[in-house]
Amino acid sequence: MRDDDLTSAKILIVDDQLANVRLLERLLEAAGYRQVSTTTDPREVLGLYRTYQPDLILLDLLMPHLDGIAVLEQLAVEQLATEMPESSFVPVIVLTADVTPEAKQRALAAGANDFLTKPFEALEVVLRIGNLLKTRRLYLSLETQNRALDQTVKERTERLLQSEKVATMGSLLAGVAHELNNPLMALLGQAQLLRETLTDPKYMQRAEKISNAADRCVRIVRNFLTLARQHKPERTATALGPVIHGAIELLAYELRTEGVEVSIDVAPGIPKLVADPHQLHQVLVNLIANAQHAMRRQARPKRLSLVARHDAIQGVARLLVTDSGPGIPNAVVARIFEPFFTTKPAGEGTGLGLSLCRGMIEDHGGSIVVESAIGEGTCFTIELPVAAESAQPAAAEASAPARPVQPRTILVVDDEVDIAAVLAEALAREGHTTEVATNGAMALSLLGQRAFDLVVSDTKMPVMDGEAFFAEVERRFPALQGRFIFLTGDVLSREKREFLERTGAPFLTKPCDLAEVRRLVQRLADDIAGGA
Ligand SMILES: Nc1ncnc2c1ncn2[C@@H]1O[C@H](COP(=O)(O)OP(=O)(O)OP(=O)(O)O)[C@@H](O)[C@H]1O
Ligand SMILES: [Mg+2]
Repeated sequence: MRDDDLTSAKILIVDDQLANVRLLERLLEAAGYRQVSTTTDPREVLGLYRTYQPDLILLDLLMPHLDGIAVLEQLAVEQLATEMPESSFVPVIVLTADVTPEAKQRALAAGANDFLTKPFEALEVVLRIGNLLKTRRLYLSLETQNRALDQTVKERTERLLQSEKVATMGSLLAGVAHELNNPLMALLGQAQLLRETLTDPKYMQRAEKISNAADRCVRIVRNFLTLARQHKPERTATALGPVIHGAIELLAYELRTEGVEVSIDVAPGIPKLVADPHQLHQVLVNLIANAQHAMRRQARPKRLSLVARHDAIQGVARLLVTDSGPGIPNAVVARIFEPFFTTKPAGEGTGLGLSLCRGMIEDHGGSIVVESAIGEGTCFTIELPVAAESAQPAAAEASAPARPVQPRTILVVDDEVDIAAVLAEALAREGHTTEVATNGAMALSLLGQRAFDLVVSDTKMPVMDGEAFFAEVERRFPALQGRFIFLTGDVLSREKREFLERTGAPFLTKPCDLAEVRRLVQRLADDIAGGA
């Protein structure tokens, strides 16, 4: 039945009296109905209902073999059995001559929708048929709408549940994760120091395992914290090169021990990005960790390449992270950016990595896509808008050859004794002289006793926290200006952020790698040497 034209409706006439059938047929034809089918044998109705699929049925009540009521009952059963929306409402008009009111009652109860009394009156016949067909049409469009609505509700609910799950899990885990940061930093540092000091290969292997496990914990904790983090990420002029090198460096050890060949190719002259370097770092670490994991069980060669290019026409920096791993099946590709989607066994992956990557890249106004070929490998392509300013010279920092470390006197300030100890030892092993204070007040008194070249300080401490400590140092020891490195807990409040910006001091987020601390210390030490 077409929506715009009732006369295209299919009508089935059932009456054992041929004369009646002919009469109704003529009436309908005169009213313009073009699709009319008839039968005088009520036993044929069910078959016709199935094959002809009428939009409306005219049904006599008193017939031999099978009366109208029985036909109605057959139709009711049939309609229950089929779930097609088209069959959900097929109006039946019962034709009555000398039937009793009880018979009419029974017909209504069996599913009849209206009556036409013989002898038929043309106008009434056409009117009632027209009305019921309109009802059917409305019913059908309502049904379609309902189904569409059902579908929408289902999809929305699913999305809501998904995002709720993410939000609740996120804030729940962030609380735990945050608590883990300090012990993790100590664990990470101790494991690294162990690796550096041991000589027996048997124990070195153990230290490596501890170190790798700690690294993995750090990544998990970072991801959880990112997930739950509410505040706006920072935006600073960020060179891509050092971020790439930094991320590789963080995983260098694991990559090397698993025999992954890493190649980095950063084109010179890529303009800086206006970005959050920590987030970009995290994106890369997640991608590199995925690639490394994907290649874990495969025979060599395991190759990982990071290529960065400037596309001046599009105004983007393009970063390709390609591995020679097993590739990702299409069905998996479709879902890898979903939060909590993982193919890794329980305990090996949270499924958060790529969803966070996409979130962070899109927050930067960029995009991340994946291309993969089974048996060949996978390539993630990130595009990030570059700042409008002129091109920067190639990053010198990351490619600079290691210079000999100038021994310095360094004050380490942290209320977590284990962290302070690990930092002090790591710096001492570089040749520096270190002392430890567990709060600002103690640090001030040490500074009063002897000269220090550098201060590495926590920001949140009892008695006197980093902010008050820094203010006091500015007042009493102005020579230490520009000689501070701060370590902060992961969740930065706005005040703390503003404080750090005001000081202009470089800072690292705990838990951080000892290598990062050493690098920063060396940079500041070099600045001192350069007379800065
Ligand atoms: N380079 C890759 N090669 C093959 N499969 C990959 C690669 N990167 C991601 N995948 C697939 O995508 C899935 C989702 O990755 P995602 O980083 O989001 O979570 P995860 O690595 O499983 O867990 P998490 O990163 O939270 O520890 C992985 O489980 C893996 O099946
Ligand atoms: Mg991952």
